[in-house]
Amino acid sequence: MAQKTVLITGCSSGIGLAIAAKLARDEQKRFKVYATMRNLAKQDDLIAATEGYLGKTMEIKEMDVCCEDSIRNCVSSIPDRHIDILVSNAGVGLIGPIECQTIEEMKTVMDTNFFGLVRLLKETLPDMKRRKSGHIVIISSVMGIQGILFNDVYAASKFAVEGFCESLAIQALKFKLHLSLIEPGPVVTEFERKVFEDGMKMDLSAADKETADMFTNIYLKNYKSIFQSLGQTAEDVAEHTMKIMLSENPPFRHQTNTLYTPMTTLKYADPNGDLPIDTFYKMVFQHDKIFNASLNFIKLLRWRSKKSFDLGKPQPQ
Ligand SMILES: NC(=O)c1ccc[n+]([C@@H]2O[C@H](COP(=O)([O-])OP(=O)(O)OC[C@H]3O[C@@H](n4cnc5c(N)ncnc54)[C@H](OP(=O)(O)O)[C@@H]3O)[C@@H](O)[C@H]2O)c1
Repeated sequence: MAQKTVLITGCSSGIGLAIAAKLARDEQKRFKVYATMRNLAKQDDLIAATEGYLGKTMEIKEMDVCCEDSIRNCVSSIPDRHIDILVSNAGVGLIGPIECQTIEEMKTVMDTNFFGLVRLLKETLPDMKRRKSGHIVIISSVMGIQGILFNDVYAASKFAVEGFCESLAIQALKFKLHLSLIEPGPVVTEFERKVFEDGMKMDLSAADKETADMFTNIYLKNYKSIFQSLGQTAEDVAEHTMKIMLSENPPFRHQTNTLYTPMTTLKYADPNGDLPIDTFYKMVFQHDKIFNASLNFIKLLRWRSKKSFDLGKPQPQ
C-alpha cells in the first residue's frame, strides 16, 4: 500500500494526539502524518509520544480551525496540497444550564465543532474532488445521535456535524470520496477535565434553584463516575479510527464504545423519539440508585477484566 498522507486537527492532547502517535508509529510506515494544533507551544506531549518519528513519518504544523487563513496556510504548506485522509478532530465542550451560558460561549462551541469542520472542508474538498480520492474522518460523538442532560449546545454542535456530513456523503459518493463519523462515548481526556472544572466553577445564579440543584447534585455528582465506568482511553479511540481508515469500504458511522450502544439504539427503536427521552428521564430522576449501582457494577467488571489482563502479562523480574 502506498503511503497515505493524513492531516489531523487538534493534536495537542487527547484523541487527536493519540491518533497522530498511532499512525506515525505504524510499523509498516503506511502513513505520513501532518499533526496540527492551534498552539505550537503545546507540542511537547505529542513529541514525547512520537520520539524518533518526528521529521520521518510525522510533522507538526500550526492550524486553528476557527481561522480560514490558518487552515489555508497549513494546507498549502503540504506538498501538492495532497491529503489522502483528513481527520477533523478539534473540538470543545460546554456543560450546564443554558440560562448560565453566554451566547458567546455557545458560539465558540459551534464555531469550533461545526464551522471548524466546514472551513476545513471548504479548503480541502475541491482538491479531493479533483483527484477523485480521499477519506474524511470526523470525530463526532454519541451526542451527535442523542442529546444528553446539560449538554444541549455541545450536542447541537455534534448534531450539526452529523446532518452536514449525511448530506455531503451523498455528493461525495459521486466523486468516490468516503466520509466516516467516529462516534465515541465518554473518553478520558483533557476535554473531560476541562469541562468538569468549568462546570464546577459555573455561576449558577441565573438558574432557578431546582435546575441549579439538578446540575450540581445529579449531573456533576455523577460525572466522574460515568467517565470511570463507561469511559474509554484516547488510545482505544485511535485504534478504532485507524481500523476505519484501513478498511476497504469504510462505514459512514462507527461507534467506538459497545457499552454505550444500547443507549443510542433506543433512538432508532422509536420513530416518535419518546423512548430515549423517557429512558434517560427515568434513569436520572427515578431509578438513580439502580443507575449508580449499574455504573459501579460496570466499573467492577472492567477493573476485574483489566486485572486478569495484567496478570497475563510477563511480570518484571
Ligand atoms: N472526551 C470525550 O469524552 C469525547 C467524547 C466524544 C467525542 N469527543 C470529541 O473528540 C474530539 C477531541 O476531543 P478530546 O477528548 O481529545 O479533547 P482534548 O484533549 O481537549 O482535545 C481537543 C483538541 O482540540 C483542540 N482545539 C480546540 N479548539 C481548537 C481550534 N480552534 N483549532 C484547533 N484546535 C483546537 C485542542 O487544542 P488546545 O489544546 O489548544 O485547546 C485540543 O488539541 C472533540 O471533537 C470532541 O468533541 C470527545
